[in-house]
Amino acid sequence: MKLQSSDITPRELVQGRRGALRHLLASSSALALGTMPSVGAAQALAPTQRPGKLAPLPAKPSALPGAQAMDKPTAYKDASGYNNFYEFGTDKSDPAANAHTLKTTPWTVDIEGLVKKPGRWALEDLLALSPMEERIYRLRCVEGWSMVIPWVGYSLAELIKRLEPMGSAKYVEFVTLADPKTMPFVGSRTLDWPYTEGLRLDEAMHPLTLLAFGMYGEILPNQNGAPVRLVVPWKYGFKSAKSIVKIRFSERQPATAWNKAAPQEYGFYSNVNPEVDHPRWSQASERRLGEDGIFGKKRKTLMFNGYQAQVGQLYAGLDLKKFY
Ligand code: MTE
Repeated sequence: MKLQSSDITPRELVQGRRGALRHLLASSSALALGTMPSVGAAQALAPTQRPGKLAPLPAKPSALPGAQAMDKPTAYKDASGYNNFYEFGTDKSDPAANAHTLKTTPWTVDIEGLVKKPGRWALEDLLALSPMEERIYRLRCVEGWSMVIPWVGYSLAELIKRLEPMGSAKYVEFVTLADPKTMPFVGSRTLDWPYTEGLRLDEAMHPLTLLAFGMYGEILPNQNGAPVRLVVPWKYGFKSAKSIVKIRFSERQPATAWNKAAPQEYGFYSNVNPEVDHPRWSQASERRLGEDGIFGKKRKTLMFNGYQAQVGQLYAGLDLKKFY
């Protein structure tokens, strides 16, 4: 599923950012109207590269170290059919069955807290902020399965730089939508809604931390966190907050949904670490979704999910058993 530069026409390469922006706007209006994508946008990628289910979101392959996992990407039907999105139910098939009610237009993201430029961003402005990149990341769920997904987005750092965080800002909190009218499980007591997550500012600024708007060359399916989510590939999947509506900068470490629900099981850091077991199961190995069936061989989980070379230095001197 990895996109080759030959899949993008030379004209689009030279058109650069304005061309990409036009495609994005075509995509988001196609999304708004529920129509087929414009001809221009559809030509951006060869049809075989995309599942052809949603509006295209063209992107160039990212050149960032670590951004092109060599593992075979997970089938789209598995990546969009086996999800955790508790607002839509707790079964893995619930989000795909129920998330059609999520209304993703209009969409805004509020920026609050310790930044010089707080305010409300329309989705269209976020889409146009920086050129879209395709990044093939491994995603390891705390429950023991993993996937490889070609995401589309750009480094969260691109947005953060523009917000001009103050010297006192040490953490970033991500608040996601909690709308009981469109999200049937927001009334349940499973979690303390809204689902929130957080990162240290330096983790949020790491270039691998992705603000994602799409996957497999198209806009995100609702069940994968449309229209905008986080992807932090070296942390367990639950750090990757879906359907973000607010980003808040703070001096103190924010509370996070899973930490509040089960503090002894889910810490703030949640770095993928085969040496630190979950209290109820080992984290030493994982099963790749769609790979070998339920009795198939598991693969070894890698330290920081295989991103140690890129992110290991963020945790130098930190006791990873204590800060799990
Ligand atoms: N974001 C919200 N808002 N609600 C959720 O329940 N689940 C998390 C994370 N983001 C979740 C969320 C968990 S546990 C995982 S493993 C990933 O989303 C799954 O992302 P995927 O379904 O796109 O693979």
